[in-house]
Amino acid sequence: MEKRDELYAGKAKSVYGTDDPNRLILHFRDDTSAFDGKRKEALERKGMVNNKFNAFIMDKLQAAGIPTHFEKLLSDTECLVKKLDMIPVECVVRNLAAGGLVRRLGVEEGIELVPPTFELFLKNDEKGDPMINESLAQTFGWATSDQLSRMKALTFQVNDVLKQLFQDGDMLLVDYKLEFGVFDGEILLGDEFSPDGCRLWDAKTREKMDKDRFRQGLGGVIEAYEEVGRRIGVNFG
Ligand code: ADP
Ligand code: CDP
Repeated sequence: MEKRDELYAGKAKSVYGTDDPNRLILHFRDDTSAFDGKRKEALERKGMVNNKFNAFIMDKLQAAGIPTHFEKLLSDTECLVKKLDMIPVECVVRNLAAGGLVRRLGVEEGIELVPPTFELFLKNDEKGDPMINESLAQTFGWATSDQLSRMKALTFQVNDVLKQLFQDGDMLLVDYKLEFGVFDGEILLGDEFSPDGCRLWDAKTREKMDKDRFRQGLGGVIEAYEEVGRRIGVNFG
C-alpha cells in the first residue's frame, strides 16, 4: 500500500490517497479543536491515542456486525480505510443530557434520557453545524430516506454495543456523534470514534473523561483519554 498526496487536511485528521483508488489513509494529528474550529491546540500524544482508540472501537463494532470503513492500523498515527462518499449529516445519540441539549432545552445536565434521543446535524463548520431533520436532509439532497433510516438504525446498534463496553469499564456513555458514507452502494460507518466525538463520565464520580475537558479548560485531556482506553482494554503500546 503506497501513500500518495494529501487530499484534505481536517481539524484533527489529514486524509491521504493511496495507490488503490478505493482506499484512503487517515492520519490522526495532535491538533485538537472545539467550537467549530474556533479554539485550537496541539495536545501531545493525542494522534496516537485516538488512532489506537478508534481502531479498537471499530474492531468491536465490526465484530458486532456493524459495517465500518476501517481496514487496519498502519502506524501509531495512521490507519487504512475504505474511501467513502461521505454523507454530510452527523448522527448524535444521547443517553444522558449534556452539552447542546442542555443549552437548547434548559434541561438539567445528567438526567437520563429514556428512550435515548437521536438528532441530526449538518456537517458544515461555516454554518456552525446546524441542527437539521430528515425532511431537510431529503429536500436539500444531503441524504435519502433509505440512507437516513439505515444511519439511524446503525447509530442505535452502536449504542447497544458501546454503552455496555463502557459500562464494563465503569463509565457512562453520555452521547456521541457518528458520520457515515457510501461504499459500493452500502452505508458504512466512517470517520472515527474516540473521546473527541463522544462524552464519557466516570460512573461513580461523573468526572468528565472526554473532549469536554478541553472545551472547559479542565486539563488532563490526554491522560483522561488514556484512562478511558485502559479501562476498556486498548493497548497504547
Ligand atoms: P473535519 O473535516 O470535521 O475537520 P477531521 O479533521 O476528522 O474532521 O477530518 C477527517 C475528514 O475525513 C472528515 O471530513 C471526514 O468526514 C472525512 N472522512 C472520514 N472517513 C472517511 C472515509 N472513509 N472516506 C472519505 N472521507 C472520510
Ligand atoms: O459539543 P456540543 O455541546 O456543541 O454539541 P452536542 O450536540 O452536545 O454534541 C453531542 C455529542 O456529539 C458530543 O459527544 C460531541 O462531542 C459530539 N459532536 C462531535 O463530535 N462533533 C460535532 N461536530 C458535534 C458534536
